[in-house]
Amino acid sequence: TKCQSTSVEKPRTKRNLLDNASNLLTNLLSGGSIGSMPIAEGAVSDLFGRPLFFSLYDWFIEHGSVYKLAFGPKSFVVVSDPIVARHILRENAFAYDKGVLAEILEPIMGKGLIPADLDTWKVRRKVITPGFHSLFLETMVRTFTKCSERSILKFEELIERENHDKKAIELDLEAEFSNLALDIIGLGVFNYDFGSVTKESPVIKEDDVEKLQQRDYSTLKDVSLLRFLVDMRGADVDDRQLRDDLMTMLIAGHETTAAVLTWATFLLAQNPAKMRKAQEEIDSVIGGEGITAESLKKLDYIRLVIVEALRLYPQPPLLIRRALKPDKLPGGYNGNKEGYEIPRGTDIFVSVYNLHRSPYFWDWPNEFEPERFLVPKGNEDIEGWAGFDPSRSPGAMYPNEIISDFAFLPFGGGPRKCVGDQFALLESTVALAMLLQKFDVELRGSPDEVELVTGATMHTKSGLWCRLKKRS
Ligand code: HEM
Repeated sequence: TKCQSTSVEKPRTKRNLLDNASNLLTNLLSGGSIGSMPIAEGAVSDLFGRPLFFSLYDWFIEHGSVYKLAFGPKSFVVVSDPIVARHILRENAFAYDKGVLAEILEPIMGKGLIPADLDTWKVRRKVITPGFHSLFLETMVRTFTKCSERSILKFEELIERENHDKKAIELDLEAEFSNLALDIIGLGVFNYDFGSVTKESPVIKEDDVEKLQQRDYSTLKDVSLLRFLVDMRGADVDDRQLRDDLMTMLIAGHETTAAVLTWATFLLAQNPAKMRKAQEEIDSVIGGEGITAESLKKLDYIRLVIVEALRLYPQPPLLIRRALKPDKLPGGYNGNKEGYEIPRGTDIFVSVYNLHRSPYFWDWPNEFEPERFLVPKGNEDIEGWAGFDPSRSPGAMYPNEIISDFAFLPFGGGPRKCVGDQFALLESTVALAMLLQKFDVELRGSPDEVELVTGATMHTKSGLWCRLKKRS
């Protein structure tokens, strides 16, 4: 699957006449229940060679914004609808937990915020959210600039060493962003410097983990989430919970940010006019100086580039939920008017990828157009959806789920929305701005060669190989 092949393709559902007839019969018999939901029957072969969410998109176009996906005995409800997403994520959020996701993440994250059951989550979320207060974020801006400077310096040294004449180098920017994001999150969460930007082999080593465990945290004077959580620690919080919370944030904040930087660069490199526009903003706001918390606020276009990259490449592309009790989902804008009864235990994928590329909500959904976020959009006869209106969330740092009434969910929505959204956005803005301040970036090959693969996030199959030229 090539990264460019994101336009509406022919549906690939394997169905025959008999299946159609049986679906029709079930629908007729069971108005208003989950049985009346359109059914996509997936064959495992549908998934060969392409990420799951591409197939989910095809089925969305074929079956509508709420459908049931059956894979043998297993089934999922796939939601690509802002009204239904709003119901699951916000209006009736506590009727759901993380289901399959929690099962997968539990061995690494334990009872950390992402997989946490509702009881644990309620206690920990209250403690952790204030950790991301504005003073912490301001201090973090210095960490973001310091770490980004290390990357820039490394690139400049490579140019000096390897290619003095041409003033350019080729390198895998995805790997570099991964190092950078790891260093930043290490410092932000533990005040621990992994130093991976400058290391020969930048993976977390055993001695890193050992050093982390040996530190005397009670005497540490620093600004980090660890410090905050240790200071706030109540009698009821054990070391295990603290470890789970920190580990969760380390993982949640690393790959996601690296991915958004990767795709923002991939998109800009194909759009030289937009890259120049971003560079002009940087030149006029910060010139040759370093970025400060104040100047950062004025980098409006860079922020829009980041959120547009998150629209086209949401991290993660799917949100996963399981119904803790029976619920009634709204029918959505093109579903059953009566809605759908779902039983306890129903597994749900909210496809953020589908929402973000829905032809029903976005003009030119597959185009990279950061400016789109400045233009309000009516609800175009979609009952129950409030349209897209930047004035709905005055002072918001970025276009979000409130402004878009759940058509745009870069950081989720409702009570389990990302706690690190501002951190991530500031971090990515600083890193991208500092890269573009110093370099012009081109793809080494054609965009089609950059193949997309997914795990928890979308990344490239063999790196984002770019040519970096020093700006004069
Ligand atoms: C939750 C995206 C960066 C910590 C989430 C969710 C999304 C998300 C979509 C909601 C998951 C769900 O509803 O199932 C992102 C993206 C990031 C990013 C795109 C970067 C561009 C960060 C950072 C941190 C962080 C930097 C911490 C330092 C968390 C935590 C949760 C979460 C703890 C769980 C919140 C809860 O359940 O209460 N993130 N995130 N994330 N994120 Fe982020």
